[in-house]
Amino acid sequence: MMISPKILFKNCYGKYAIAAVNVFTMEQIHGLFSAAEYSDSPVIVQITPAARNYAHAEMLMGMVQAAAKIYPKTVFALHLDHGIEDHVIDAINKNYSSVMIDASHDDFETNVRRTKAVVDKAHKKNIVVEAELGVLSGVEDDIDIDASHAFYTNASQAKEFVDRTGCDSLAVAVGTSHGAYKFSEGKGLQLRILKEIQDQLPGYPLVLHGSSSVNKKDVIEINHFGGKLAENASGVTDEELRNAIGYGICKVNIATDIRLLWAKVHRKFFIEQPELFDPVLPGKEYMKVCKELLINKFEVLGATGKASLII
Ligand code: 13P
Repeated sequence: MMISPKILFKNCYGKYAIAAVNVFTMEQIHGLFSAAEYSDSPVIVQITPAARNYAHAEMLMGMVQAAAKIYPKTVFALHLDHGIEDHVIDAINKNYSSVMIDASHDDFETNVRRTKAVVDKAHKKNIVVEAELGVLSGVEDDIDIDASHAFYTNASQAKEFVDRTGCDSLAVAVGTSHGAYKFSEGKGLQLRILKEIQDQLPGYPLVLHGSSSVNKKDVIEINHFGGKLAENASGVTDEELRNAIGYGICKVNIATDIRLLWAKVHRKFFIEQPELFDPVLPGKEYMKVCKELLINKFEVLGATGKASLII
């Protein structure tokens, strides 16, 4: 059942968080929906412009609609992640539940103007809007921001931004970064800044991008089977995620963790069985481990068992 993030956030604020998982492939969609159904956990299915370029927007939409039939108990929202105006308009026309306009790299006034224009369009169709203020470092799809260009969200600007744009949720820069190399300066998640933002925007849903955990064991195994990931690959701990929920984080974005799993499963499979070339066996294994990882993630975020309570 597709549902608005507005309802999800109203239910979870301060108590648990919704995993928002970026999907590019059929295996990831199976893994996500089967985990959500198994755990009775609400989820947000996220589609990026890069995923649309890769698989095609229609293909992704078709797969999500099929998954909703295959796993009928799943409670989910369909969200456009890191969109610009063209993607947003297409997603609005395709009846996504929500869209993100990412104008965070522009100056404050331009970000306000672009976000407000999207909010005005989306709200006419009851589609909710996530915006971003502050800049995260790291690599995601074709965006690559080095640490010197990243900056934290300013709490009083965040309030002004929400008041002026009417956006429904706000992605904040509080120390996380996209990709497998977070916290390279060793600072970790900045709960103090998150608290300042929550004080300015009490009860308002905040979004944490760059929330993958980057499991050390996966990194070691990828490298064992020929990968070359750097030693300092690291992510957000379970404890940091749990703490963030108390400061208004309602949506936790995850892409890297299931990409690392993809690399691990396929590297291992073909190194151990070099005579095989069929996609089905590693594909099945990948769906299985994606499901397991996400079941655990829902548990960490406190979302297990919450879907049926919402409907
Ligand atoms: P990770 O790279 O930590 O998985 O973050 C993904 C993300 O924030 C998508 O918007």
